[in-house]
Amino acid sequence: MPDALKLGFGPFAAPAKGVFIVFCDDALKFGPATAKALGRAAALVTRAAKAERFTGKNGSALEIPVPEGLKADRLVVVGAGKTAKLVDHDFAKLGGLAMGKWPGSASEATVFAELPNGVMSAAHAADLAQGMRLRAYAFDRYKTKRKEDEKPPARRNLTIAVSDAAAVRKADSPRAAVTGGVVLARDLVNEPANVLYPAEFARRASALKKEGVAVEVLDVKALTKLGMRALLGVGQGSAHESRVVVMRWSGGKKGDAPLAFIGKGVCFDTGGISIKPAGGMEDMKGDMAGAACVTGLMQALASRKARVNAVGVVGVVENMPDGNAQRPGDIVKSMSGQTIEIINTDAEGRLVLADVTWYTAQRFKPKFIIDLATLTGAIIVALGHEHAGMFCTNDELANRLTKAGLATGETVWRMPLGPEYDKQIDSKFADMKNTGGSRWGGAITAAQFIKRFVDEKIPWAHLDIAGTGFDSRQNDINKSWGSGWGVRLLDRLVADNYEK
Ligand code: BES
Ligand code: MN
Ligand code: ZN
Repeated sequence: MPDALKLGFGPFAAPAKGVFIVFCDDALKFGPATAKALGRAAALVTRAAKAERFTGKNGSALEIPVPEGLKADRLVVVGAGKTAKLVDHDFAKLGGLAMGKWPGSASEATVFAELPNGVMSAAHAADLAQGMRLRAYAFDRYKTKRKEDEKPPARRNLTIAVSDAAAVRKADSPRAAVTGGVVLARDLVNEPANVLYPAEFARRASALKKEGVAVEVLDVKALTKLGMRALLGVGQGSAHESRVVVMRWSGGKKGDAPLAFIGKGVCFDTGGISIKPAGGMEDMKGDMAGAACVTGLMQALASRKARVNAVGVVGVVENMPDGNAQRPGDIVKSMSGQTIEIINTDAEGRLVLADVTWYTAQRFKPKFIIDLATLTGAIIVALGHEHAGMFCTNDELANRLTKAGLATGETVWRMPLGPEYDKQIDSKFADMKNTGGSRWGGAITAAQFIKRFVDEKIPWAHLDIAGTGFDSRQNDINKSWGSGWGVRLLDRLVADNYEK
């Protein structure tokens, strides 16, 4: 989080210094407040636009240093394109775009939340602010050697000009809470595994207590007692002990069944004895993106005081090769009592999820279970980095997730489940094995595996976020390696469907 970014809302007044950011449409038209503040500098824009071939297309921007007639040091005109075509989630994008045009060295900026057809609604102005905050995120805590001219100012002041500051502040407050959740998720994903090992993940999740979340940390002793041998098997080769963290937010009616969110938290995935190739292995510090999303979501729900009961359960482990590591051929008994033959120790995420899912279903009898996991390379082959794979046993839940995805830009694509896939994980020696017979349809056989640990009566969705949780598509509101993907999606799912 740009702690150093101070964001406030104020009236429409031309700034006396810093960067002045305004929006125009594809006819280079401004709204009335913007035109008034620009005064005779409007003619400068017309000239500069011609010289730079700037047409106000959505996503483009025109930058004019030391603009004649204005006190600001720099004028930035951001193109909003055809304003009639803008949909809700375009406003966060516009904010991201505007933030991207704020040079790192400048300490002040003023943005006019106005389009040619008038002042933005309170909701859209707050979306704009959210886009700016998300874009401003940078994970730079380990950079100690920045050159003097690359150093950002200690504090950056951002004023967003609006007509009803009180209304925008009200709309901004829940969005700022969600942004905080996204930032937490990004931080967790970006942290290296020597810093963020299971116990440290649990410590950071425990900080949610100050938001009113009840946090329980189950250690190896407790997990052994519960019989979570599938999860413990994954972590047994690591010097860092495994943990399960249970986070509960009770903002709904007392006694209402909670919504359950489950996350794969493999703090580092070497593959174990079935070790991965060296190239790119460093990315496996992000193999806890599912758990990071669940933690960020729980923080977001609590900090915006969502009127819902929700539980987040994450299994945090490290998958290492070692003298004590589990072997291919090992057979483990899961908490559910079902036995699993380990074919490939690199198919570890599903082993973690098996126990955590079963535990969550038994203990909380939730309204639904949604799990998130960077589970398979196969889902990246299928969908690239543009959609997460969604496997779901309930059409209503699937449709709601799809809708929330379109509304936030964190899109999901439904994938199939079926008995033909399920039988591929039957084992010669145990109740099931942890990989399918071939690599074809690998994301589906992985989903089928988890499905065997879900109570059939509970609607269940599994989101394979291997392509979206980290190293994903960079866009106007995310320039971070760890994207924090899913926090906005699931917050939206909850807000639109479960808080009535
Ligand atoms: N964490 C990986 C999946 C992954 C790969 C996520 C690349 C993000 C980027 C997972 O634990 C894994 O290793 N999956 C194997 C499963 C296979 C052994 C059946 C895979 O996808 O190759
Ligand atoms: Mn793996
Ligand atoms: Zn993994």
